[in-house]
Amino acid sequence: MNSSPWWKEATIYQIYPRSFFDSDGDGEGDLPGVTSKLDYVKSLGVDALWLSPFYTSPNRDGGYDVANPRDVDPRFGNLEDAKELIVQAHKRDLRVIADIVPNHFSDQHEWFQAALKSNPGSKERDRFHFYDANEDGTPPNNWISIFGGPSWTQVEDGQFYLHLFDSSQPDLNWENPEVNADFEKTLRFWIDLGVDGFRVDVAHGLIKEDVLTNHFDPQGLSNALRLDVAMDSQKRNALLLTVPYFDRQGVHEIYRKWRKLFDSYGDREIMAVAEAWVHPPVNATRYIRTDELHQVFNFDLLTAEFNSDVLFDLVERSISLNATVNALPTWALSNHDSTRVASRIGDEQARALALFVFGLPGSAYVFAGQELGLPDGQLQDSDRQDPTFFRTNGAIKGRDGARVPLPWSGDTTPFGFSTGKPWLPISQSWEDLTVENELADPKSSLHLYRNALELRKEFLVGSGGITWLESSQHGHKNDSLLSYLRGSVTVVMNLSDSAKECDATGKLIIVSGGIVDARDGKKVIPARSSAWFLA
Ligand code: NOJ
Repeated sequence: MNSSPWWKEATIYQIYPRSFFDSDGDGEGDLPGVTSKLDYVKSLGVDALWLSPFYTSPNRDGGYDVANPRDVDPRFGNLEDAKELIVQAHKRDLRVIADIVPNHFSDQHEWFQAALKSNPGSKERDRFHFYDANEDGTPPNNWISIFGGPSWTQVEDGQFYLHLFDSSQPDLNWENPEVNADFEKTLRFWIDLGVDGFRVDVAHGLIKEDVLTNHFDPQGLSNALRLDVAMDSQKRNALLLTVPYFDRQGVHEIYRKWRKLFDSYGDREIMAVAEAWVHPPVNATRYIRTDELHQVFNFDLLTAEFNSDVLFDLVERSISLNATVNALPTWALSNHDSTRVASRIGDEQARALALFVFGLPGSAYVFAGQELGLPDGQLQDSDRQDPTFFRTNGAIKGRDGARVPLPWSGDTTPFGFSTGKPWLPISQSWEDLTVENELADPKSSLHLYRNALELRKEFLVGSGGITWLESSQHGHKNDSLLSYLRGSVTVVMNLSDSAKECDATGKLIIVSGGIVDARDGKKVIPARSSAWFLA
């Protein structure tokens, strides 16, 4: 472990267990599959892995619909497998982050089943948000679920329950002490089993206010809240300022209690990272005040254009906002909810951006497959499983493309992922993108990631802030150069489609693509490429 606390500038590898490696031939990845690939994970040079949910679940939303948060779903293995994964990760000096889902349960959770059997006003219903219908029989308000369709579903006796996501994901009522106590039990359960931290799903959603009021543009708001729906950023930001069910003050009370719980484990340095997509961005820093959580995801890079003005502003803002609470930013180019970065901005651009970001202060998150340069998988509608696709009648395709399983080896799909039929098809066109192939090719994206993460650890982690050398403020507008100095490393990114000269000095230690030339004493950075120079 390289710095203290361990998470501060860690590189964290996100594994979507269903898509990582299938150990038993049923076509779905599982926990023993992850354990069997820990040497690969370690070889990337990351410090920790974050596992998307593997709990008991009917899997209507990729496991983010939890029916028992303190057990493992048979599709992924069992509790012994989870324990073994953690033990083996720790043996390799890798920390493990579990994904906790406090905003909602699955409708298959015993609490919700009990609520369905109980009367309006009962203590069983009070754990969720049950309300009577309006006088005309319509739902209590006009909110649209983030997955499309109404946010309310009616039960037999006429009451409606709130679900910000799928109808199979009833929102929990965090004003109810039983909900609080149950989650603290879950946190302790996993910490006692050995996990080192948590990713907190929908961390900004737990407390609801104004549940009975309508929104002026519920459909626009629902789209604005999706990372996979393109929208003009001004329009998106304006809508995000009006979300009635996110980022209420009461959520912070919950995290203050959790922080005490985490701190009670002393030098285990248990951490939590909040998935809190809030607006304005300054609000995100409230989640990481010194008595709350440890990190908050910065989602900006998941939607930002490959443009030097945009990226300069975004990096500046993230560093300076975090500094107000004495924290460092987090950086993520892809995750299981967004279009993969290589598909979104292009393959070379994605490599350049990764190298640019790995130099920055803070923690870097890498979504499994990103290191291979995977694009989104091309799927037929008949393959799709994301509830969004169904709830919008196919108008929004959903997130399955980013979740296609990893290609490991061989020259025929499913490339060693499974001996069975993978749950989502892996295109034969990924033949060159297997781990095996990329390991054999020193110019591959995999080698770039491994080399960059090694150099990051050696020269950049813990070396303080950045000084901009080239940016829009230096006259480099739009598609040109961005460059900063951090410690003894100068990082330069050329965003344009032609080679560009820069003033960087020092020895070239890594380049994301192409060849760095020298001309008249200046370094020439290839098009759509980044490079690091060591003083
Ligand atoms: C965010 C998760 O990342 C996403 O996959 C999930 O669908 C929603 N939260 C609901 O839990």
